[in-house]
Formats: sequence, structure tokens, C-alpha cells
Amino acid sequence: MNNNVDIEKYFKPDLNKARKRSKQTIEELQFNLSDAHHKIGVDKTYSIHTYGCQGNEADSETMAGILELMGFANSSTEENSDVIIINTCAIRENAENRIWGELGRLKKLKRQNPNLILGLAGCMAQEVNVVDRVMKKYQHVDLVFGTHNIYKLPEYVETAMFSKERVIEVYSQEGDIIENLPKVRNHRFKAWVNIMFGCDEFCTYCIVPYTRGKERSRSKEEIIKEVSELVDQGYKEVTLLGQNVNAYGKDFKDVEYTFGDLLKDLDKVGIERIRFTTSHPHDLDRKTMEAMRDGKHIMPHFHLPVQSGSNPVLKKMNRHYTKESYLKVLNELKEIVPGISITTDIIVGFPTENEEDFFETLDMVDQANFEGAFTFIFSKREGTPAAKFEDDTPEEIKKQRLYLLNEKINDGYLRGNQRFLNQTVKVLVDGVSKHDDQVLAGYSEHNKLVNFRGNRDMIGQIVEVKITQAKTWFLLGEAV
Ligand code: SAH
Ligand code: SF4
Ligand code: F3S
Repeated sequence: MNNNVDIEKYFKPDLNKARKRSKQTIEELQFNLSDAHHKIGVDKTYSIHTYGCQGNEADSETMAGILELMGFANSSTEENSDVIIINTCAIRENAENRIWGELGRLKKLKRQNPNLILGLAGCMAQEVNVVDRVMKKYQHVDLVFGTHNIYKLPEYVETAMFSKERVIEVYSQEGDIIENLPKVRNHRFKAWVNIMFGCDEFCTYCIVPYTRGKERSRSKEEIIKEVSELVDQGYKEVTLLGQNVNAYGKDFKDVEYTFGDLLKDLDKVGIERIRFTTSHPHDLDRKTMEAMRDGKHIMPHFHLPVQSGSNPVLKKMNRHYTKESYLKVLNELKEIVPGISITTDIIVGFPTENEEDFFETLDMVDQANFEGAFTFIFSKREGTPAAKFEDDTPEEIKKQRLYLLNEKINDGYLRGNQRFLNQTVKVLVDGVSKHDDQVLAGYSEHNKLVNFRGNRDMIGQIVEVKITQAKTWFLLGEAV
């Protein structure tokens, strides 16, 4: 691992560099904490605030792992923390606004405790305008580091703590894949497992290919090892993570091994439940569908973002499929894996989207019979191609479109739940319900939230539940 970078120099991000896709081979390197860093955190505490997607949640677990290896203990309150890291998301403007608010709020804490080390990490740190603003206006932020150099956290904390210097180090291009990273997992029986990093799709609205770099797959050996260890530790479910898991393995130069192969192999490792997110429709292949059909542990739920139902809009989004080809893949999937539950992501108000385009999206929702969706109004991301597209739809119209779409999506949630009425489903019990501590809550194989009465010993177990009522957002049942 190259640890010789002069960290006193600021490394600012650069979107033009981040856009480039180098041919350089990615190496696999092992993380090692140097002796000097082992005791830095003894008698000190940390907290991490996580925003954004599961990728960020997994990264925060790594940051926690590194900090605990350095001796820091997790703090329940930020007032007592010696180190606070904000792991940020840049996907939409409102995600960023929340974080600016949070940074402003933490200024007071820094004033009360000047020794506090405040760090900004994650996707926002990869944006040059963000780093410039932090450098000028948020002097109380001590560390800024991006998504490619989390493994260097020990050096950064050391510099901030002992040299009292600001550390701003963001790499615009991905480096190697670092293995053997420690993790403190947030959940006792469900775990995130990264299978790949980065994204090469370059959907025109999206910042992720710039903030996460080029697609790099972890070796199957490392993934299988991680999942096997999780089985030994009593984990029941893994969610395989990547921005486009269907492109897994496409970057391997010497072996032919794709996502379908990985699913098949992981099915034999002994983990009860395998889920994955997220998929891109144009990379979804038959081998993956067949692995889902044949696997005993691969859950019958597929999150397949469609984004729009209009062909001209899909083209402008650079999605590489049409409404018809999406439905063809979807129908093939439904045929091969009968009863599978399908959810999606949809953007309304993309530049140039007119009423007719929007109706195509509504029609798409009807035809695909989605059982859930994350829906968004287009948000302009500086540096992406869509930021320059002419956008003359008033915000009010976009909000109306979102409202109409959500009504339809909610019908889909209800229909998706109703099909389990009077059936017995298997539920991995997460814990007690948020609303009633006499009630247990967990997810079925099809990823439906189920509430039922039971005892706390069932937490962490897979329990059979007979469904008695279907609501829009959850199912009610009785343990059998
Ligand atoms: N790699 C995943 C997830 C990406 S982010 C995928 O391709 O599905 C999750 C969702 O955020 C996207 O699917 C998209 O619907 C939405 N999104 C991304 N960029 C956006 C933007 N600029 N404005 C609004 N929504 C956006
Ligand atoms: Fe963004 Fe598209 Fe990549 Fe998903 S596939 S992360 S939407 S560029
Ligand atoms: Fe946000 Fe970065 Fe994930 S922009 S959605 S945290 S990849």
C-alpha cells in the first residue's frame, strides 16, 4: 500500500479526472494498521453520521472498524465524541442541503470542544465545489476525505490530532481494491457485502460514476470468504452491494465469472438469505435469473430501476434500453422466477420530459406491476451532462407528477401485500415494531414488512407467519 503521500498537501477532487476511465489494472492490497496507529484512540470516542445509500452504510461500518482498531470506542452522544465523521451523499440537492445544515450545527460543538476532530467523508467530498466551500466557510471541519481512501483514516486522524492541521485529501481516481478492512457491523444477523465498487454507466443525471470511480469487482474468493465468515458468526442474511451488480466480473481480465456465477456459488456457502442491490436492466442476464430460480437461498425480490417509461427520455438519460426492452427482460424474469416481487426507482421532471412522456411512465408502472418504488424529482447535479439540458417544466408541475406517480405506486404496494393474504410466509425477525413493543417486525422472503405477536427469543430467527391482514405499508399475521 502506498503510504508515502504527503498529507500536508491538499488533494482536491477534480470531476474531469473522475470522468476518465483508465485501463490500469486494479490490484488487491491488504489493509494493515501500523503499530504507531494502534493506541491513538485509547480512552477516546467516535461517532459516525451516515447519509445516502447502502454503499455508504457499508463504508461507515469500515470507518468504525478502523477507528475501533485504533482504540476509539463508539460514543452514544456526539457531545462526548472526540472524533465525529459525517459520511455524506451527493445524489440530490436536498441530500446535500441536509448535510450543510448538519455541518453548521456542529460548529457550536466544535466551539465547546476545540479538540474535537470533525471529518467530512463520502460522495460530497468528491465534489470540488463542496471542498472549496468547506475550505473557505467551514473552517471547523478538520478532515475531508473521499470514497477512495477510507483505508487511510488512521493517518488523517493522527495528523489532525497531533499536528493540529487540516487534512484535505480526496482522490479523483479510484485506486486499488483494499481487502482485510476491519468492520463494525450495525446489525447482528444481516450484513452488507460489497461485491464491486464504482459505476461505468454514466446515466446523464447521475453523480455516482464521478464520486465512486470506475467499476471494480472484488475477487470471488474474497467475497465467498467474507460470506462464509458471516455464516460462522451467526449471520442469517447478506445483501450484496454494488451500483450495478449485474456488471459484476465484467472487469476481470483473466477469468470468465459473472454475477450469475457468484450467486450460484454463494448459494452453497450456508447463508440463509441472499439479497442484492442495485441492478441495471441492460446488464441483467439469463444466467442471473436462472441462478435465482435454482438457488435455495436467493430471495425472490428484484429491485430493477426503470427511471422512466418514455423512450425519448430514457435515451436522454443514457439508460441503454427502451420501455419495450425493459418489459421484455422483466417478463422473462417473472417467468423464470414465478411470484417474484419487483420494485424500482423512478425520476420525474427530467429535462425535456413532457406530459406525454410522463403518461408513458404511468403506463410503464401499470404494465410492470411494480410492488414498490423510490420516486424522485430530477435534481440538477453540477458536472453531469443533464445539468446542461434545457429544463422548462415548472417545479409545480413536477410536484404534481410526483404526486400522481406516488398514488399509483402506493396501489402497487397494497396489491403486492394483498397477494400474501391467508398465506404462510417466512419472516426473518428484526426486532420489536417501532409502534408497539409487544409486536415483532421483520421481512418476508419477498421483502414485505410483516408485524406479528411473538416473544423476543424469535429475534434473529426465521419464523413462519400466517398473514391475516394486508395494509399498504405492512402485513399483519400470527406465528404458526
Ligand atoms: N446505482 C443504482 C442507484 C443509484 S442512486 C441504480 O442505478 O439504480 C438511486 C436512485 O437515485 C437512482 O436510481 C435514481 O432514480 C435516483 N437519482 C440519481 N440521480 C438523481 C438525480 N440527479 N435526480 C433525481 N434522482 C436521482
Ligand atoms: Fe447512477 Fe446510472 Fe450508475 Fe445507477 S447505473 S449509479 S443511476 S450512473
Ligand atoms: Fe449517495 Fe454516493 Fe450512495 S451519492 S446514493 S452515497 S453512491
